[in-house]
Amino acid sequence: MPDAEGTQDHHRYYFDIAPSNEPFPLRGLNALDWGMKNRLSNIFNPATGRTVMLAVDHGYFLEPTTGLERIDVTIVPLLRYADTLMCTRGILRTTIPPSFTRGVVLRASGGPSILQELSNEEIAVDIEDAVRLNVSAMAVQVYIGGEFETKSVHNMTRLVDAGNKYGIPVLGVTAVGKNMVRDAKYLRLATRICAELGATYIKTYFVDEGFETITASCPVPVVIAGGKKIPEHDALQMAYNAIQQGAAGVDMGRNIFQSEAPAAMIQAVRKVVHEDMKPEEAFEYYQELKYGSP
Ligand code: R5P
Repeated sequence: MPDAEGTQDHHRYYFDIAPSNEPFPLRGLNALDWGMKNRLSNIFNPATGRTVMLAVDHGYFLEPTTGLERIDVTIVPLLRYADTLMCTRGILRTTIPPSFTRGVVLRASGGPSILQELSNEEIAVDIEDAVRLNVSAMAVQVYIGGEFETKSVHNMTRLVDAGNKYGIPVLGVTAVGKNMVRDAKYLRLATRICAELGATYIKTYFVDEGFETITASCPVPVVIAGGKKIPEHDALQMAYNAIQQGAAGVDMGRNIFQSEAPAAMIQAVRKVVHEDMKPEEAFEYYQELKYGSP
């Protein structure tokens, strides 16, 4: 037992120091509970309020995509450069070392393969398993305008309700169906619906025209997917444009793991996201890492 005698003269109340009351750095999320904010801080770097999410969940509806055939060989060495990993529970349990202590964003919807109507998804993870896996967020696909639009929105709202109960954020992923036009008007609609119905943050796509109107009108953080593989310089330019127009980070897969030099690429993306490095400089940095300094 601590001795209550003799300690009373040694209290220090620091009357000259105002109590700290730091605002939470993520847009629209200041009212969340401590557990939610703690998990979000495993996704978004608290120093910058931004994130580099490494997305490797493609196998939840696709064949083993190029670069993801052996996640233990190609992805595990990249984990040290990611703020967060986005993956399925199958890959998490089988392949990701439990010593990885940064955030995991768990793919939590699924069902149809690429051979079927993709919007016909269900919630694919029980909230108790998400808790058991100690994940930092759950990701759900939302198909605005899709054949099963309402069902996919309800998947999201049910996950939000479950996540709120246990303090687990939900990432709403705006999935653009084959017949949809991927433009700012559509993505404003999709991101806003996700945010209004409770998603903690949103993943969407970068568009050249009007991306800043998407981030401006979405009351929670927006991150961009990388999309299909493009030349490294172009991918860095896209990430830069998105960040400068209000994105809080990237959720990038193929443009990292299908790069000729994935470790160099993810480090260059980090420079763009966390240090506002211009794309030309980031591309030089990528090349230096790839080929070695001259
Ligand atoms: C899409 O199926 C997955 O949710 C991916 O996580 C997402 O598309 C990001 O990966 P990529 O940068 O390859 O588009």
